[in-house]
Amino acid sequence: MDLNLKGRTAFITGASRGIGRSIAFALAAEGVNLGLFGRDMARINAAAAELRGKYPQLRIAAVELDVADAAAIKPAVEKAVAELGGVDILVNCAGGAYRGRLAEIPDHLWEEYFAVKPLGLIRMTRETMPYLKKSTQGRVIHMSGTRGREPHGVQVMSGPINLGTLSITKAMANEFGPAGVTVNAICPGSTDTGRWTELVGIRAKEKNIPLAEAEKELTADVPMGRVVKPEDVADLTVFLASARAAMINGCAINVDGGRSRAI
Ligand SMILES: NC(=O)c1ccc[n+]([C@@H]2O[C@H](COP(=O)([O-])OP(=O)(O)OC[C@H]3O[C@@H](n4cnc5c(N)ncnc54)[C@H](OP(=O)(O)O)[C@@H]3O)[C@@H](O)[C@H]2O)c1
Repeated sequence: MDLNLKGRTAFITGASRGIGRSIAFALAAEGVNLGLFGRDMARINAAAAELRGKYPQLRIAAVELDVADAAAIKPAVEKAVAELGGVDILVNCAGGAYRGRLAEIPDHLWEEYFAVKPLGLIRMTRETMPYLKKSTQGRVIHMSGTRGREPHGVQVMSGPINLGTLSITKAMANEFGPAGVTVNAICPGSTDTGRWTELVGIRAKEKNIPLAEAEKELTADVPMGRVVKPEDVADLTVFLASARAAMINGCAINVDGGRSRAI
């Protein structure tokens, strides 16, 4: 299948680790030049160096950016555009949600996390959109999460952060479709990043059981019987970025092995 991705350019926030890093490698494998945005330059430079080693033909820019810093976004986008010559694909992957119940989360944490997602994602898309409109295959992909559609009290922050991301995805899809830019969201279920390892460890400690048993318990409600891998999410991202997804716009697609109950 010709994805028409070779020679295109993608900007990825949260590219230093986890799902974003995996997306960077999956797009690079399709011949996509990359702007990698991250707060921690040691981590983002390490990812860039590994990618340059594996794909020496690609142009790869490592750009320092805390997406919660409103004033820093425009200059960071301009820097990456100057270095890479433009952008076709924006993947907003930076973020997460503090895990806890309502009474356990103080105001400053709500504000800190919301500043990254959805607020940072909104600003990042706003500043990148003028360049995406110049592309013949403009794509925006927002990383949301299944808790946006199925909120839960033990992870209360994941609900509004991810639902806000879905809402803005739909609004942006309506607005920018006529300019040829599609905007979609991916909703991963529990995914095997550093956070997952942490959760398995907590469960094992709480119940005094081996790690493998804790992981089995935590995936008991996943019909496919395992945790989501970052690569599962990256594969969908590549498809949504491709020419083949031209008529997929304003959608939110789960990658959760069927765990979500809603249709
Ligand atoms: N893992 C899951 O189970 C899961 C489930 C549903 C949805 N998601 C969503 O998927 C996305 C990626 O999750 P993940 O598990 O891969 O996360 P992760 O491994 O914790 O990595 C988070 C990434 O976001 C970056 N980041 C965080 N705050 C930032 C900021 N203020 N400015 C710039 N970058 C920032 C981090 O960069 P630094 O290196 O600078 O810290 C890192 O690259 C998130 O939006 C998350 O909500 C994840």
